[in-house]
Amino acid sequence: MEKEPDKASLEFNNRPIEYLYISSPSEELDIENPTVNEEEIPQIHVRAMPAAQTKILKQTLITPETSTLLGANSRDKQYIENYKKVQLGINSEEDTFVLTPRIFFEIERLLPEFTRQVASTLDLEAKTRIWEASPILSILAKSLMEESIKYSTWIAKRIALKGDKSKPHIACDLCSGAGITSSKVYKELKKDGFKNIQIHGVDNSIESLAVSYLVFKTQDIPCVLLNNYEKVKDIPADWNGIALIYGNAETYMGSIDESIKYSDIMSENGISYFSKEKHNKVLEDSKKHLAKGGGIYLSSLNPSLSVDLAKPFLIKEILTGKEKYQRYLNNIKKGKPQYIISEGKIKRAMTEQTGRQIEFMNYLLRTDMVDFLKYMKGLSKATTAAKILTKEILSPVNTVEKDLQEIFNIKDTDISKYPEINGAPCDVIEIIV
Ligand SMILES: C[S@@+](CC[C@H](N)C(=O)[O-])C[C@H]1O[C@@H](n2cnc3c(N)ncnc32)[C@H](O)[C@@H]1O
Repeated sequence: MEKEPDKASLEFNNRPIEYLYISSPSEELDIENPTVNEEEIPQIHVRAMPAAQTKILKQTLITPETSTLLGANSRDKQYIENYKKVQLGINSEEDTFVLTPRIFFEIERLLPEFTRQVASTLDLEAKTRIWEASPILSILAKSLMEESIKYSTWIAKRIALKGDKSKPHIACDLCSGAGITSSKVYKELKKDGFKNIQIHGVDNSIESLAVSYLVFKTQDIPCVLLNNYEKVKDIPADWNGIALIYGNAETYMGSIDESIKYSDIMSENGISYFSKEKHNKVLEDSKKHLAKGGGIYLSSLNPSLSVDLAKPFLIKEILTGKEKYQRYLNNIKKGKPQYIISEGKIKRAMTEQTGRQIEFMNYLLRTDMVDFLKYMKGLSKATTAAKILTKEILSPVNTVEKDLQEIFNIKDTDISKYPEINGAPCDVIEIIV
């Protein structure tokens, strides 16, 4: 049964309620036009906020039509189920980040108009765009392949492993891009039973913010947009979701309110593009915002390697794709190389993840030609991402260990790395402070 709340019910402590939110992935309620379902009342948090916060959470950017387009249809559900089983090797019931090729292309189609909407919501129509839409879509396309995003998977699992479920978990993702790391961390913590999860994603490209907002929608993750650092301290501590902040990662940690403490700070293919001086300044500034026992997670491509997979080998593997995972795994156990490199180019990748990917592609080829072709189209976009990303990495992760030790005064045992395989195209470093 629905009832129209009267005017008095839109006040709290004699102050007008400036936002309402529901602790579910639904969009924030439209305060101009409120209808409240009585059965939902116990789940609705109502709070009076200072006027400055009005813009923070009162955002309804996704129409019901867009929401339907971004939601999984029956084919997507089938795809997701098989992706979990074959590519990820997990139970299909497990809630984890999966993007289907159809949803990827839907995001691409919606992006130009949605970017304008995001710019207008943030009052930032005139801002220069640093990363145009096309590279950020290529970066998103990486998420169709676990091999490309296994670094985020590792980070998410490490964060969940060391975190304290009973305490609020607030992490920061500098240069959040297409939102893959933020999504993976959010979903992993949620799956592991963390009660209060908040991630602050910082990016200075409206296109990136728009892509990630749409991505979070596809993953049922609540999201809000903030147009400056000042508002970060106003996010209610018990709000669960990802706050996307338009801001400069170079100055963010030096500008936010002293009271903000992060359980973890991560930056994947983000601050590694900064000069050593700027990179280290970000880390210096991060010190006062990292909670005790907090982690820093950095990843970047290895600039001395590029990915140029030999197509005949790949095609042969896909056509004969059954049981590749087990074969690759046996080879790994025998100590055989997982990446075959020639003249600085990775020609073959025979990791556990690529073994599973080949089996998944073989499965698509045999059972669903439409999805197979869409998947292949998505992969060709992701290949472009690798080319864009290797350019101008000024502080690659494989050169920053000493700096991290000096800045945070940590021991060797406080450092972990992934994947520590000869020839891996990307490196991740974790430090616990
Ligand atoms: C290569 S993408 C990486 C995105 C994401 N972290 C990932 O791994 O998929 C780099 C992102 O950093 C953003 N970026 C570049 N310089 C930035 C800066 N100074 N402040 C904030 N974001 C920045 C870009 O807009 C882009 O979205």
